[in-house]
Amino acid sequence: MLGTQWGDEGKGKIIDVLTEKADIVVRYAGGNNAGHTVYVGKTKYVLHLVPSGILRRNKLCVIGNGVVVDPIGLMEEMEGLKKIGVKVSPKNFLLSETAHVVFPYHRELDASREALKGTNKIGTTKRGIGPAYGDKAARVGLRVNDLVDKDRLEEKLALRMKENNALLKSLGGKPISFKKVLGAYRAAGEYLAPYVTNTVVLLHEAMREQADILFEGAQGTFLDIDHGTYPFVTSSNTTAGGACTGTGVPPHRMDRVVGVMKAYTTRVGEGPLPTENGEISDLLHGMGREFGATTGRARRCGWFDSVATRHATMVNGIDDLAITNLDGLDTVKSIKVCVAYRRGKQQYDYVPNDARELAECEPVYVEFEGWCAPTHRAKTFRQLPLKARQYLKAISELTNARLYIASVGPGRDQTLFP
Ligand code: GDP
Ligand code: IMO
Ligand code: MG
Repeated sequence: MLGTQWGDEGKGKIIDVLTEKADIVVRYAGGNNAGHTVYVGKTKYVLHLVPSGILRRNKLCVIGNGVVVDPIGLMEEMEGLKKIGVKVSPKNFLLSETAHVVFPYHRELDASREALKGTNKIGTTKRGIGPAYGDKAARVGLRVNDLVDKDRLEEKLALRMKENNALLKSLGGKPISFKKVLGAYRAAGEYLAPYVTNTVVLLHEAMREQADILFEGAQGTFLDIDHGTYPFVTSSNTTAGGACTGTGVPPHRMDRVVGVMKAYTTRVGEGPLPTENGEISDLLHGMGREFGATTGRARRCGWFDSVATRHATMVNGIDDLAITNLDGLDTVKSIKVCVAYRRGKQQYDYVPNDARELAECEPVYVEFEGWCAPTHRAKTFRQLPLKARQYLKAISELTNARLYIASVGPGRDQTLFP
């Protein structure tokens, strides 16, 4: 299961719904830049690193090797969950020994690089994600198995601190204390050690026993490092291929791809958003909606962009769609849907690779008459207004995948199966 837009599609809610029928939930990419919101009754949970499946009993949650882990953040998240009565133990939660570790210098570098870019900034979450994946690709990163080995941690960290403190100083930042970082990370390593295992082998053993595995994507298709609106992207493969590399489960063992999308579009951070629209932004923000789950920033909002979601179906091989936040459009009289982009004389039915080219694209819209009625109380798909059902069918067809779930509110019971 993955996001088909620019993140925050409602993946947390849909994972929670799908977890009911799964045995294992595994996160495959990203770090604590993610914020996945799940409501259980009236209680709101925001998960950053721990898979959203943790809120259901007797499910095994796994952080795969493709994730970058801020161990202090993870520890706090686990403790926070325990405090509100969610069971978190090595019986239901495991961490890959080869996931890369995020250090304070990654966060500092993330912030410094953004500051240096000025108006060209990406608008990152400042969680150190880019620098951590950068170290991974440069083969100088530390992994979870380094974190849990006290001596190895000291030796490797000392070297990394030397380089990164020099770098930070050159960017006008303050050096970080090796002693402090070592102390805090040793403690985190000790705390996390019982959870650490070879998750690749574990997942394959589970598959041999016919376990149902759900892959939890973070971010969205257009934040993918390869397929997104580079450079306004995150630093991992958020798309379907990332589920293979980020867990060690081969592609032919995955039998279904579920794409999550909002009934409109949002993006947080910089970068092109062809269907961005002030009216719908104001409407949603006025309802108290569309503020970031991780950073609290107001999300930019726009009309549904079927060029983007169709492109997402192509890149991810999406079979089924979960459409969320239908209720966000309940009061809109005339709903626009982007069906193509135009740039000068050129018309596109895909998302161009180049962010500058995309920024010059004008959306071509078709309009749908709104249903102008509340949908959040619908208990079955048939209880939705006809025009709402027609809208859902139309955007699914434009996206070129099957409508599987419609969501009309954040709660578990606000989930409709057509
Ligand atoms: P994620 O990152 O994809 O998990 O999405 P976020 O949790 O960051 O943002 C999605 C927001 O939409 C959260 O506040 C959810 O509680 C909320 N949400 C999900 N589905 C629905 C829906 O159908 N209707 C409404 N009103 N809110 C929803
Ligand atoms: P979930 O999983 C929305 C965005 C940031 C920024 C860009 C790069 O909740 O959908 P990064 O910190 O990753 O280097 O930031 O990516 N971004 C997200 N936007 N939802 C997310 O996660 C995001 N994670 C990163 O806003 O534009
Ligand atoms: Mg989110």
